[in-house]
Parts: sequence; structure tokens; C-alpha cells
Amino acid sequence: MAKKYITTAIPYVNGVPHIGHAVDYCLADTYARYLRLVGDDVKFQAGTDEHGNKIFQKANELGVLVEEYVDANSKKFKDFIAKLNVSYTDFIRTTDASHEELCQKIWQKLLGHIYSAKYEGWYCTGCERFVTDKEYEENHGTCPDHQKPYEKLEEENYYLRISDFKNRIREAILADEMLILPEFRKKEILKLLEESPDVSISRPKTQLTWGVPVPGDDSQVMYVWIDALSNYITVLGYPDQNISEWWPAAAQFVGKDILRFHAIIWPAMLLGLGLPLPKVLVSHGMILANGQKMSKSIGNVVDPMEVIDKHGIDAFRYYFLRHVDTFADSDFTWEKFEDAYNNELANDLGNLVQRLATLAAKNNVGVEEGEFAVSDEYKKLMDAFEFSRAFDLVWEKVQGLNRRIDEEKPWALAKNGETEKLQKCLGGLIKDLLQVNVEIIPFLPKTSERIAEIFAGKIEPPKIPLFPKQ
Ligand code: MSP
Repeated sequence: MAKKYITTAIPYVNGVPHIGHAVDYCLADTYARYLRLVGDDVKFQAGTDEHGNKIFQKANELGVLVEEYVDANSKKFKDFIAKLNVSYTDFIRTTDASHEELCQKIWQKLLGHIYSAKYEGWYCTGCERFVTDKEYEENHGTCPDHQKPYEKLEEENYYLRISDFKNRIREAILADEMLILPEFRKKEILKLLEESPDVSISRPKTQLTWGVPVPGDDSQVMYVWIDALSNYITVLGYPDQNISEWWPAAAQFVGKDILRFHAIIWPAMLLGLGLPLPKVLVSHGMILANGQKMSKSIGNVVDPMEVIDKHGIDAFRYYFLRHVDTFADSDFTWEKFEDAYNNELANDLGNLVQRLATLAAKNNVGVEEGEFAVSDEYKKLMDAFEFSRAFDLVWEKVQGLNRRIDEEKPWALAKNGETEKLQKCLGGLIKDLLQVNVEIIPFLPKTSERIAEIFAGKIEPPKIPLFPKQ
């Protein structure tokens, strides 16, 4: 049994979960369930990123204590993850006392690569980072992601000497020792790596109070990304504990917008600590609403709870795992969602289960217990993190079974009293459905459990179809 550690980005708690946040979790959970299916032992981290000015300012605006604000919002994310049926094993909050303490120890271990200097530059409080002069010019002085003008900041900062690690990171990326997916992002990251200056990793307390204090310097607080990235190993107990059982991570799931932090600063930190680099960085695309970036000001933010409450969790997972391409940006519209629900979940899978269970019950057909394994083609796609393509493959099989029922016409066999042929036909179809059902487990765990139950022992068709048409 191989041990595999997988991680998800920890969302900022300055707002409530939206459907975009679901992507990390759906992908990582699918991978975790797939690994368990093929026999691995999985550790699966999730958590919340709770420091930084954005969060502090938001709590102030609302007139609540920042501690209370982060407690309430972290809980909303935790509830959301539970609702998504995410099989995580560890949940970390960056305000956990143990995380803060371990972060300070990490800082101390990195001291050989840290220096202090004055810095003047353009800063975006939305991104919580300084931008280069080139970026400032290209974006005409305004952050394209936050629509806010960059602010000029001059301050004393601690820096992490990225230059100490550039060669090693470049090598690891080129050799796929730290595999970046999708492949086309590699080039982009290599370019950013070349251009990357040393990174400022602290803020004066006068600028930022809500963060982990820099050990040995009361006037400085850690930059939120240093604190946030550390979560992936503090959750394992590093540096107090030996983490080699789980680290390096088998896969780290992040959105494409934060790949740069994970492919440059994070490896530099790991190398500085003498730790190996993660095996794979999976960077997924963004969810757009009606072709546009979701934003509160446009008013097109889709509430995931609304989707789940209306159609159920597996319908939600179905859309996000099949119709949201694993790597490209994808659109969410209610129309597309409802089409997928009615035409695919209800018509293809729901109908298949209902037809087979009804025919089997009526004709007293039982199924022998069997051992089912996933196909090589499916395995190949899942191992390559091509989840939406693997799900397409599964769906072709579901549709193929529906076609087979139409062709083999078991109802006609029943009518003609061809009992033996009928048993063979239905038995074969059900066996093949149960085979596909195993491949459904990582995507739609509840549905696949339900299908296994329906066809175990005495078969009874569900009183309400799996996905009632809406
Ligand atoms: N706090 C940082 C991550 C620190 S990881 C050490 C952060 N938080 S976030 O809340 O902005 O984003 C959390 C995750 O959700 C990221 O992987 C991000 O890419 C993802 N998404 C946020 N909006 C998204 C969409 N609209 N679509 C898809 N994913 C998106 O970044």
C-alpha cells in the first residue's frame, strides 16, 4: 500500500464559498478516491487561509472582531467541503496556534536564505503582493484582477533569496521532477522564474498586524503567502515531526492564478528547508459565469449551496468533473447545468439503473458477486490527472449499456419465454453496469454506492429514480 499525500489550496476567508472554490476540492477528492480505489493509503489536507490585510480590513468594515470573523467564515468553508462530500483527512487553519508556532520554526530554519533590506515598489492589496515595474506598466497602474490601482509602498522587509534556488527549480521543472500540469504552463512558469527577484517575505507591523510575528523581530509580521504555503507541511507536524512518510506530496491542486506561488516561492522554501519538491502541481482553470469572471460587483456569483440544494451533491460533482475541463477555463450557466442534469444524469445513468433494476426484479434475475477492477484506459487517464476525459470514457460506457438494452431487447425475451437467454442478457448487462460503477466511485461516490446497493442481493428498483427529471 503506497502512501500518498494530496493537498488543496486553502481559500481566504474574506468571503463565503462560491462555485469556483469547488474546483480544487472536486478534483482533489476525485484523485483521493481514485488512489484509494487502486489500493493507496491517502492523506488529504484541506484548510483555510486566515491572515493578511484583506481579511483584517473586511472584519473592520463589518465592525466585528477579526478572530470572530475568521472563525465564522472558516466554519462556512468547512461546512461547504463536507457538503461537497470531500474525503479529506486533515483540516488546518492558519490561525491554529500549532500552525503559527511551526511557521516560526520554519522561518528560523530558513534564516541562511533570508536577509533584510529596504524596498520600494508597487503593491496590490488584493493580490497581497508587490508587482514588477513591467507588470505595473503593462496593466497601466491598475490590478486587472482586482480593478484597484497599485499602491506605492516603501518599507523595510525581510527577503527570501530566490536566486539561491533558481537553478535547482528550473532543473526540477525541466526534468518533470516537479511536474507542472498542464504542460503548457511550464514555459510560462520558467519565464517567471527567470524574471523573479528575491521575494519579500515580511511586512512591518505598521502595515500588517494580522499575521504570524517574525521570530526575533517584533517590528515585522510574516507575509501571508509564507504563512499560507507552510500549511502543507505544518499540518503534517513539520518541523517538529519527521514527515518523510507523507512528504513529498503526490499532488498539489491549485488554481492557475496561484500556480506562480506554488511553482516558485514554495519550491524555494522547500529547498531552503532541505525538503524534496512535490511530485506534481496540478493547476486547474477558472470557472466563469456566463463567460465572465465571477465577481460581486457584476452580480454573477453563483451560490454553490443553491445548486446542491436543488439538484443534490452528485449532480453538482457531475457538472464540475465532466463539463468543467480539468485544465481549461469553463463556463457555468444554469441552462448548461440543467441540460446536463436532464439529458445525461437522468436520461443516461438514472434511466439505465431504473430499466435494469425493473427488468431484473420482474424476471427474478440475481447477480453473482464479483470482483471488479478499473480498465487500463481509465487508469491511464486518471494517472495523468485527465479527470474530465476519464469521466467521458465512463459515460460512453453508460451510454453503450443503454444502447445494448435497446438492441438486445430483454423485454421481448421475457415475452417469448426465453428464460435462459433473458437471464444471460440481463445478468451480463448488470455485471457490466457494476463494472462501470466502480469507475464512477471517484466522481459520484454516493450514486455509485446507491447503485451497488440496488443490485446487491434481491434486486428492487428504486421507488424514486436516481436523478428525477426536473
Ligand atoms: N489563499 C490563497 C491560497 C493559498 S494556498 C497556500 C487563495 N485563496 S482563494 O480563496 O483566492 O482561492 C482558493 C482556490 O480557489 C485557488 O486554488 C483558486 O484558484 C480557486 N478559485 C477561486 N476562484 C476560482 C474560480 N472562479 N474558478 C476556479 N477556481 C477558483 O488564492
